[in-house]
Amino acid sequence: MPKIILRIPLQTDLPILFEQQNDSEASQMADFPSRDRGPFMLHWEKIMKDNSVTIRVILYKGKIAGHLLSWKEKYQQEVGYWLGKEFWGKGIASQALTEFLNEMKIRPLYAHVATHNIASKRVLEKCGFEILDENKREFLLKLAN
Ligand SMILES: CC(C)(COP(=O)(O)OP(=O)(O)OC[C@H]1O[C@@H](n2cnc3c(N)ncnc32)[C@H](O)[C@@H]1OP(=O)(O)O)[C@@H](O)C(=O)NCCC(=O)NCCS
Repeated sequence: MPKIILRIPLQTDLPILFEQQNDSEASQMADFPSRDRGPFMLHWEKIMKDNSVTIRVILYKGKIAGHLLSWKEKYQQEVGYWLGKEFWGKGIASQALTEFLNEMKIRPLYAHVATHNIASKRVLEKCGFEILDENKREFLLKLAN
């Protein structure tokens, strides 16, 4: 099990988080477009100030491996996460989500995952999420409690 630390994001983390999302393979995997630097910084400055959004940066061996966040989307509490490519395949997302779910207690919790994103679907299932719905493009998963 990888040893990770979750902490609140700092302004100085943003250039690394920007690079992590500015990656075409990651963006394709998540089926989520990368933001340009300006819109990225504006978006993060906004969500970091928003008390209804819980964000944690994932530290692995002293480096920023990625982040997780939870926010309210219409009536549903959602969760998402993103790792830099060099940190994939080490069990970091599974461990980070497990620890995040111990801190962030709002339930039910929902996640949308592109149907081709097998790794992300697996991360969620390992953490107790179950498939609630499926269409051509994505799975909707739910953690009841
Ligand atoms: C999806 C993502 C978070 C996975 O992170 P990770 O740290 O590599 O995941 P883990 O190492 O914890 O692996 C989780 C499970 O997926 C499996 N897995 C990992 N990569 C895989 C791949 N490319 N294909 C299939 N399975 C994969 C692992 O074997 C593991 O399952 P197991 O424990 O049964 O062996 C990471 O690839 C990422 O950040 N991708 C870009 C952004 C993204 O897709 N975010 C999620 C949006 S919903």
